This record gives sequence, C-alpha cells and structure tokens, in this order.
Amino acid sequence: MGRIVTIIGTRPEIIKMAPVVKALDGLRHEHTLVHSGQHYDLMMDRVFFKDMALRAPDVQLELKEQPPHLQVARTAMQAASVAAKADLVVVHGDTNTTLAGALLGNKLGKPVAHVEAGIRSFDRTMPEEINRILTDQVSRLLFAPTETARANLAAENVRDGVHVVGNSVIDALLHHLEAAKSSKVLKRLRLEPGRFAVLTFHRAENVHAADRLKRVLQSMGAIAARHGLTVVFPIHPRTEKMAKQFGLSSLLKAPGMKVIPPTGYLDMLELERNAALVFTDSGGLQEESCYFHVPCVTLRENTERPETLQIGANVLAGTDPPRILEAAEKQLVAKREWPNPYGDGTTGPRIAAIVERFLG
Ligand code: UD1
Ligand code: UDP
Repeated sequence: MGRIVTIIGTRPEIIKMAPVVKALDGLRHEHTLVHSGQHYDLMMDRVFFKDMALRAPDVQLELKEQPPHLQVARTAMQAASVAAKADLVVVHGDTNTTLAGALLGNKLGKPVAHVEAGIRSFDRTMPEEINRILTDQVSRLLFAPTETARANLAAENVRDGVHVVGNSVIDALLHHLEAAKSSKVLKRLRLEPGRFAVLTFHRAENVHAADRLKRVLQSMGAIAARHGLTVVFPIHPRTEKMAKQFGLSSLLKAPGMKVIPPTGYLDMLELERNAALVFTDSGGLQEESCYFHVPCVTLRENTERPETLQIGANVLAGTDPPRILEAAEKQLVAKREWPNPYGDGTTGPRIAAIVERFLG
C-alpha cells in the first residue's frame, strides 16, 4: 500500500480537486488531504467543502495574509513532515500552494503529480505562469487537460509521464449541476434568466493597478446602461480591498451593478448557466461558461485557455472600455454552438487509474 499526499489551498483547487480527491480516496492506498490555509474565509473556503460534499482535510495549516514568498515558504515548512512520508505528492493548478507542494515533493525526493499540467498564457509577468512552469518541470506525472497543453509541455522538453485526461472542472460541474438547479440565487437577487451578466475580477495584475480596475468597473456600468443588463459581481476579497484603497467604491454602486459577496459553488453554477454573458479574468469561469454555452469576455490580454478562443466561446478584451464594449456586442450575438474542449467529466477516475498503476 502506498501513501498519497494531496495538497490544496484555494477556492479553485478545492472545487476542481474535489472529484480527484474522491477518486483517489477510492484506491487501496492511504490518502492524506492537506489544506495550506491560503484561502480561509468561509465563502472562499469552507463553503466549497460543503457544496462539493468533500471530506475535511486531514491536515489544516495556517497562512492567513502572508505575502506570496511566505505562502510558498511556510506551506513547504508546515507540510514537510506529512509529505516526507508520501510515495506521491499531488498538486493542482498554478497557485502559491501548488508551487509549495511541488517544490516540497521535489526536495524530499518524492514523485510529484500535477493536475491541470501544461496550460500556458506565455505571460511570465503572471505569478500563476511561473508557478505552472516550475511545477511542470519537477512533476513525474502530468495530467494535461487537452492536447494543446501536452504540446506546451513538449515545447519545454517535458514528454514523459504526460497524460491527457480532460479537466476535472467538468467532473465537478456535472456532479453538482442538478443540485445547482435548486439554488434560489436568481430569486434572491431578483434576476431573470438571460437578463444579467456575471462579472468576476481578481487577478493581482488587474486589481492592483488602479487604472485597470477603474476602467473595468466603468465598462460594466456602461454595459449595464447600453444593454439593460444587471451586472452581478461576486467580489473577491482582494478586489474589494483594492477598490476601497483606490477610492473606487462608488463605481461598485453604479446603476445596474449588483455587487455581492463571493458565492458558493452551486449559486455560481446557477448564475453562470443563466447569464447572458460572463465577464472574467478567472480561469475557471472561462471553462465553465464554455461548457454552459454562455459567451465569455475575458478581461485580460492573454489566456491559458486558448481552446475557448478558437471555438468562439470566449474573446480577449483586455481592460480598455471600448474593447470591452465591442467584445460584449460581439459575444451577445454569438452562435452558441461550440463543442466542449475539456472532456467528459471522467477526469477524476482517469487520474486515479493512472496513479494506481504508478504506485503499483
Ligand atoms: C489566488 C491564486 C490565483 C487564483 C485565486 C483563486 C496565487 C499566486 N494566486 O489568488 O491564481 O486565481 O487564488 O481565487 O496563488 N483574501 C481574503 N480571504 C481569503 C483569501 C484571500 O481576505 O479567504 C484576501 C487577502 O487579503 C489576501 C488576498 O485576498 O492577501 C489575496 O489572496 P491570495 O490567496 O494571496 O491570492 P488570490 O488573489 O486569492
Ligand atoms: N466561484 C464560486 N464563487 C465565486 C467565484 C468563483 O464558486 O464567487 C468558482 C467558479 O465557479 C470556479 C472557481 O470558483 O469553479 C474559479 O475560481 P477563481 O476564479 O477564484 O480562480 P481561477 O479559476 O481564476 O484560478
């Protein structure tokens, strides 16, 4: 019997790893779930364990409000004794928790498995891009969501141990879609299907730049006015803090804007499914809106989800109001017929089967 140690710590890791953790729990190996504590608010963390019916972590670490370098250093320190007993360390995605787990596994001489390997924005100013590249370089098992991701890895000379398995975002979504349909979020927010847009915006490079944050918020007010859409904005705590700090809080109260606290997963799926448009700088929302055939406008200059652009589900609009308005016009009339590039929702079991073979 082998020992698997899975390390997670943020909202998207909890959501997308829930199906993988459950599949790994089903193996005959010992499986320890470690939470770094990178996200810690009820609505950024615990709510997802409840919504996803995910067991509590075996090991809960604490990070609260650490700067990025200490998020990595402290996670590695705190998780060291658990990871030292592992036969495989599993991490997901591109966060500071991901990098900490991957480096820790590598320094301990343990094989590392990376879920969502190989995606690239080719923008090294993003902390996530550095986290992804470094994690992939030290991983033995690389679970790539698409052939594009596999090709990105090959271009960096990473060829062994790569498995294209789809993205567990689809597993999570399919497991919870029926429950999401019972969400009362539309009623609670007095929203009509197709008459609102969903906005999420939290990337460090976007919200720490006052001009970008301001222009995006101004664009949303303009979209609400021009298209008669309510813009529902579940606001990330980082964004809320920065809007206050930059004196932009009045833009959050513009007519047509509905700013709400971060939502649980089921409410979010129900909002996305019924939206006319999604505006976002989130990776997960680009994928989920694509699955729902809801057009997406990505408020960035690049994306590590190019599949969504190629099929017309998504367009890049940056943070300039004229481009955002133009992209919204285009996407509002988009033919919603694209295929889903992220797999059939069996990523969790496929990963577990490969891990089983690996551990023998
Ligand atoms: C992190 C990830 C990002 C991911 C996002 C998911 C990195 C480099 N970035 O960004 O890739 O898209 O998580 O949401 O790891 N905060 C709270 N409560 C919380 C969590 C955060 O108040 O529960 C506030 C704190 O002020 C914190 C700030 O948000 O300092 C940023 O949090 P952090 O986890 O460092 O980065 P995210 O922006 O969440
Ligand atoms: N999400 C959520 N409530 C919110 C915002 C996001 O449940 O208020 C979910 C969303 O459906 C997706 C995931 O969180 O599954 C995306 O996480 P996030 O945008 O924080 O990170 P990213 O995907 O950019 O790494």
